[in-house]
Amino acid sequence: MVMPATSKNDSFREPCDFDQTIDRCHTDSIKWCAYPPDVLPLYAADMDFLAPAAITRALHERVAHGIYGYPTECQELRELFAGRLQHLYNWQVAPEEVVFVPRVVAGVSAACFTVAAAGDALLVPTPQYGLLNIFAAAGFVSQEVALIPGPDGLLTFDLDALEAAITERTRVFFLCNPHNPAGRVFTEAELRQIRELCRRHDLLICADEVYSDLVFEGRRHLPFAAIERDFADRTITLMGPGKSYNIAGLRCAMAIITNPELRESYVRILTGMGCAEINLMGYVGTLAAYRDGNSWLDQALSYLAHNRELVHRFVSEHLPGIRMDMPEGTYVAWLDCRQAGIAGNPAEFFLREARVALNDGLAFGKGGEGFVRLVFGSPQRMIQEALERMSEAMRRL
Ligand SMILES: Cc1ncc(COP(=O)(O)O)c(C=O)c1O
Repeated sequence: MVMPATSKNDSFREPCDFDQTIDRCHTDSIKWCAYPPDVLPLYAADMDFLAPAAITRALHERVAHGIYGYPTECQELRELFAGRLQHLYNWQVAPEEVVFVPRVVAGVSAACFTVAAAGDALLVPTPQYGLLNIFAAAGFVSQEVALIPGPDGLLTFDLDALEAAITERTRVFFLCNPHNPAGRVFTEAELRQIRELCRRHDLLICADEVYSDLVFEGRRHLPFAAIERDFADRTITLMGPGKSYNIAGLRCAMAIITNPELRESYVRILTGMGCAEINLMGYVGTLAAYRDGNSWLDQALSYLAHNRELVHRFVSEHLPGIRMDMPEGTYVAWLDCRQAGIAGNPAEFFLREARVALNDGLAFGKGGEGFVRLVFGSPQRMIQEALERMSEAMRRL
C-alpha cells in the first residue's frame, strides 16, 4: 500500500518482527482462550502479530492522561479517512459522508435495519463468515446462495440462483469483498453483474469491505460504491482498521454512505440501537493506524503473502485430497476436504487428531459442508507446525 509519508517520526517505519512468538494466553483473547494449551488455534480472524508501534505509542500517550470520559467524534479521523479513500481508490467521499460505527458487524446490522424489518429477507452469497447467526437473531431471513466455481475455477456468484432466490421480501444484497472465507477479490465485471441484479430488484447493497487493505499482488480492491456514482446511491460500505492493523478489539469502523437520505436513515437506526458513538481508544488507535501505520501494513502484507504461499504449497504437497484456491486477499484459506477421505466433520477431525483448531465450514452456511477455514495471520513457525500436525494426522487415516 503506497500512502503519502505523513509520519514525522522515522521510528514509525521500524522493521517489524512478524516471526516473533508472542504469548497471548491469559490476555482474554477469543482465539487463545477457547481450547486447551496443546491446541494450535488457526480459526479466529485476528493476527498473532504486534500492532504497529505507532498505535501502541498513541494509546500509551492517551492512557497517560488518565481521564477517559465521553469523546466527541474525531473530525481529524474522518478527514484522514476520506483522504485515504481518494488516494487509494480515487473515490471522492466527503468527510461528512463517513459514519463511525462501533464495529463492522454493528454497521452491517444497521444497514439491514435501514431498509428491512424482521421477517424481511437478505440475499447472502455463501459460504459467509459469522453473520448468519446475527441475521437470524435480528429476525431476518437469510436467502443463502452458494458461490460456484467460475470459468477460471475460482468461486464466483451464481447469478441465476441469486435471481431465483429473490422474493418480494428481499431487501438487501450482502456483499463481502474481499471475501471471507473464499479469499476472492471480485473483479469489476463480477461487481457490475451484482449491481445490475440489485438495480433490477431494487435491493440495497451492504458492502462489507473490511479486508480491503489486505489484497495481494496481482489483484486490486475496487470499492463497490466507487465504480460509478449511481452504484453509491444504493450502497452502504463498511470498512475499518480492525483486520488490517490487527486492532479489532479497539472497536472502531466506518460506514461510507454518500446518498444523504440513506445516510440520514442509517444514522437514525444507529442512534436507535445506541450505537452511534464509538469508544475513545478506537479513535486513538484508528487515527494512529491510518496516519502512521502504513509501512507496518506493507510489511504485514508481504509476510502474509509468504504465509499464503506456504499454506498453498503445503496443502497441495502434503495434505492429499485437500484442495485450496490461492486467496487473492484476506488472511484466510478455505480448504475443501471433501475428497480427503476424512470420515465425518473435518474440523472435528483436525482438532481431535492434530490438535489444530480450524473453523468448521458448516458454520458458513450453504456450500460450507466438508470445508474448513484456516487463518494464516500467525508466525510462519506456528503455521508450519499446524500444517505438519495436520499432515501427520492424515497419514494415520
Ligand atoms: C468480512 C468480515 N467483516 C467483519 C468482521 C467483523 O468485524 P468487526 O469485528 O469489526 O465487527 C469479520 C470478522 O471476522 C469479517 O471477516
